[in-house]
Amino acid sequence: MKCTAAVLLFEIILATNSVSNDQSDSDSEKVPLEHDVKFSVNIYKFLATKGKKNFVVSPISAKLILSLIAEGAASDTLSEITEYLGITQHEQDLIARIGNSLNDSNGVCQIVSANKVYISDDYEVNETFNYTSLHKYNSTVEVVDFKTPEKVSVLINEWVEDHSNGKIQNLIHAAELHAATIILVNVIYFSATWAKQFRPKNTSEEKFYTSKGKQEMFLKALCMQNRIHITV
Ligand SMILES: *[C@@H]1O[C@H](CO)[C@@H](O)[C@H](O)[C@H]1NC(C)=O
Ligand SMILES: *[C@@H]1O[C@H](CO)[C@@H](O)[C@H](O)[C@H]1NC(C)=O
Ligand SMILES: *[C@@H]1O[C@H](CO)[C@@H](O)[C@H](O)[C@H]1NC(C)=O
Ligand SMILES: *[C@@H]1O[C@H](CO)[C@@H](O)[C@H](O)[C@H]1NC(C)=O
Ligand SMILES: *[C@@H]1O[C@H](CO)[C@@H](O)[C@H](O)[C@H]1NC(C)=O
Repeated sequence: MKCTAAVLLFEIILATNSVSNDQSDSDSEKVPLEHDVKFSVNIYKFLATKGKKNFVVSPISAKLILSLIAEGAASDTLSEITEYLGITQHEQDLIARIGNSLNDSNGVCQIVSANKVYISDDYEVNETFNYTSLHKYNSTVEVVDFKTPEKVSVLINEWVEDHSNGKIQNLIHAAELHAATIILVNVIYFSATWAKQFRPKNTSEEKFYTSKGKQEMFLKALCMQNRIHITV
């Protein structure tokens, strides 16, 4: 019941950001909205083909972790990532700032976006990257031994569970870590009640018919009369 609101909300954050910065002198302050929409729409399209369970998704949160990894990339890899994200390196700063401002618990709703990078101990972590991850993206970089995938999967799953208030459990299986060199984890946690709620008083038992039109049954029907603005 909490999820559609999250999807809309993140689009609004982006839209508001680029609009309010239109007056600003600095070009680096602008998020290229067109690209953002394309990236987001691709995510929504992909998810539309998946199961119908309630879920929360945030393109900006996904963008954050990809933007973080771009900080540690060079040459072709770097241009491929930034091209896919539709952002320049300047705009990465803005993405990071939006990401860090997501956790703005104001009592009405709680949104937390958390990042973490697990890197194989076959590699040495560049100090600059480690510093940037931590200070710009609030993401720690942890060196792990993927030759012991059971241990690493427990490590990752515990971190994910912790940062999603226990909502996401057993995200990754040891078998999926076979031959991994780097694992990027981004968790989005969203908790809120509907701004416009259905009143229990306006819920009544109503008659429903099955598709064949024969069998009658009674179900609780929620009813609301309200004016709701939506952003698409
Ligand atoms: C989110 O922000 C609140 C205060 O605004 C803070 O207490 C909490 O630790 C933060 N949580 C995360 C996961 O960043
Ligand atoms: C770490 O990365 C930075 C920035 O990409 C680079 O200038 C530096 O040479 C790297 N350090 C090492 C030890 O490779
Ligand atoms: C990254 O930096 C932190 C803090 O400076 C340090 O504790 C940690 O060992 C570093 N991690 C790596 C993989 O270098
Ligand atoms: C950074 O992350 C930690 C743990 O994930 C969290 O407690 C803290 O509030 C975060 N800080 C910001 C500025 O988001
Ligand atoms: C409750 O239902 C009544 C009649 O169906 C309707 O007139 C009223 O506006 C509803 N109230 C709310 C808050 O939706």
